[in-house]
Amino acid sequence: MATPAPRSPVPLLPRIAVGDLRKDQDISENELRQLVDLTLDLKRNPRRYASALEGRSIVLLFEKPSLRTRLTFELAIQQLGGNAVSSIGPIGEREPVKDVARNVERWTSGIVARTFDQDTVDGLAEWAGVPVINALSDLYHPCQAFADMVTLREHFGALQGLKLAFVGDGNNVAHSLMLSAARLGMNFSLATPPGYEANPHILAEAEELACAQGTRVEATHDPAEAVSGADAVYTDVWASMGHEHEAYERNVHFDAYRVDETLMAQAGPKAVFMHCLPAKRGQETTDAVMESPQSVVFDQAENRLHAQKALLLMLL
Ligand code: CP
Ligand code: NVA
Repeated sequence: MATPAPRSPVPLLPRIAVGDLRKDQDISENELRQLVDLTLDLKRNPRRYASALEGRSIVLLFEKPSLRTRLTFELAIQQLGGNAVSSIGPIGEREPVKDVARNVERWTSGIVARTFDQDTVDGLAEWAGVPVINALSDLYHPCQAFADMVTLREHFGALQGLKLAFVGDGNNVAHSLMLSAARLGMNFSLATPPGYEANPHILAEAEELACAQGTRVEATHDPAEAVSGADAVYTDVWASMGHEHEAYERNVHFDAYRVDETLMAQAGPKAVFMHCLPAKRGQETTDAVMESPQSVVFDQAENRLHAQKALLLMLL
């Protein structure tokens, strides 16, 4: 009698065609949809994937502090059966980025990097023969945006036609959110103070992506206009890592951009409040909003773990 073939515990995984995630656009719209679906499956059935990264080692190179991203990547790798090692400090200071890349690739199956300059992530990706994942740079935070799309999908059931409003700095998180939201058929509205707008090239790209979906990406200086009819209101710190020295000046310019209960009341009736965290209560938002039933900030944090697992599986 023929012995039945052993069944693989891991289902066939969708693969990302391009090996690196330097920025959101490195994964296609279709891959992004698959990533959301895979994240939800990983969250429901974690044991199915428990040995998916067996025998793989992944290095985390972080130039900036992190609670969520670093710990969820380390936990994700461990929970998928792999090994994670972290190195904290400047990349490309003791030796060129291209040399760092060509060392680390010899020991590992992948690099997760949090950097100041986007050029550092791009340099690692260019020189390393293993996948490089952007775990936040000055321009993008794709891992955050992917997990947030999962949180919105869980909360609203579908993403098509939802309106996401971002009030605050036109920063890395805003960039990644507009690129992901546009590609998943959502409307996106950004309200920033004058002088703190999003990068015009990234905004134009997001507008084009939205146009292709029949939705809109808009930028304004009016927070009330941005949140009008929004299903989700998102904010982030006014001074990102590396800009802390501008905090005093920024506090003055951003004062009218605080997401408080009054602004939340101007959003859609069932709007949720979102924040990538860490939050500065009393600045970009208030304790009352953070602790309100509308707040999904800890669901967002929870989903970072599952979304990162999905990303690792699709890239590696
Ligand atoms: N949201 C986020 O990326 O948090 P950390 O900076 O703690 O990783
Ligand atoms: N915009 C923030 C996000 C932190 C997760 C920063 O870059 O510091």
